[in-house]
Amino acid sequence: MDVFEAMETCRAMRYLRTDPVGDDVIDQLIWAATRAPSPGNTQNWDFVVVTDHERRRQVGQAFADALADRLAQVASLGHDDPSQRAMMEGAAHLAATIGQAPVIIFVCGSVAYPASRPDERFTWSALYPAAQNIIVAARALGLGSVFTTFHHTAEPALREILGIPDDVKIAATIPIGWPEREFGPVRRRPITDFIHRDHWQGALRA
Ligand SMILES: Cc1cc2nc3c(=O)[nH]c(=O)nc-3n(C[C@H](O)[C@H](O)[C@H](O)COP(=O)(O)O)c2cc1C
Repeated sequence: MDVFEAMETCRAMRYLRTDPVGDDVIDQLIWAATRAPSPGNTQNWDFVVVTDHERRRQVGQAFADALADRLAQVASLGHDDPSQRAMMEGAAHLAATIGQAPVIIFVCGSVAYPASRPDERFTWSALYPAAQNIIVAARALGLGSVFTTFHHTAEPALREILGIPDDVKIAATIPIGWPEREFGPVRRRPITDFIHRDHWQGALRA
C-alpha cells in the first residue's frame, strides 16, 4: 500500500479486536512516529506504550469513569446527520472499551524548545506530526487506530497510573488494534474548498 492509499483509508477505527499486536509491529509504529519532523530536530517526544493487561484495565477504567456520562449525554441529544450519529456512537463505544484495545499509545513531550525560552507551541507542533505518522503507519500495517484527546478528561488519574510527570504534556491517546470494522475512505471536502492560490480568496468559512 502506498502512502496515499494509507492516508485515504485511515478512517478513525473505534471498533478494535482484542487480539494482541506484536512488539515488532509496535516498534514499527514508534519508528514511524520518530520519523516526524520537530523544531530544530529536537525529537523531544516520548511514547508511553501500554500493553500490560492490568495497566490497560486501569487506564480503561479511568476513561470510562471520566467519559461515560458525557458521551451518553451527547449521544442522547440525537444527531440528524447519520455520520455524526455513527461517530458519537463509535466514540461512546471506544470510551467504554478502550482498555481492551491491545495497545494504547500516549504521545508525550516536555516544553523544552528553544532552550533559551521554552515555548509550549513547539511541543505540540512536534507531537502532532508524530501522532499522525502513527495513524498512517498503523493503516499501512493493517491496524486500526484513532487519534483521541480522551486524556483531557482523565489526566490526573492517567498520570498516576502511568507515572507521567506533571511537566510532560500529553498530546494524543491512540488506541490501536486489528480492526473490527472495514477500513474505508475518509470523508473530506474537495481541495478547492481550502486552497488559496497565490493570495487569500473568499471569506472565512463559518
Ligand atoms: C486533535 C484531534 C482530537 C480528536 N479527539 C477525538 C476523541 O477524543 N475521540 C474520538 O473518538 N475521536 C477523536 N478524534 C478523531 C476525529 O473525530 C476524526 O478524525 C474525525 O471525525 C474524522 O473522521 P475520520 O478520521 O474517520 O475521517 C480526534 C481527532 C483529532 C485530530
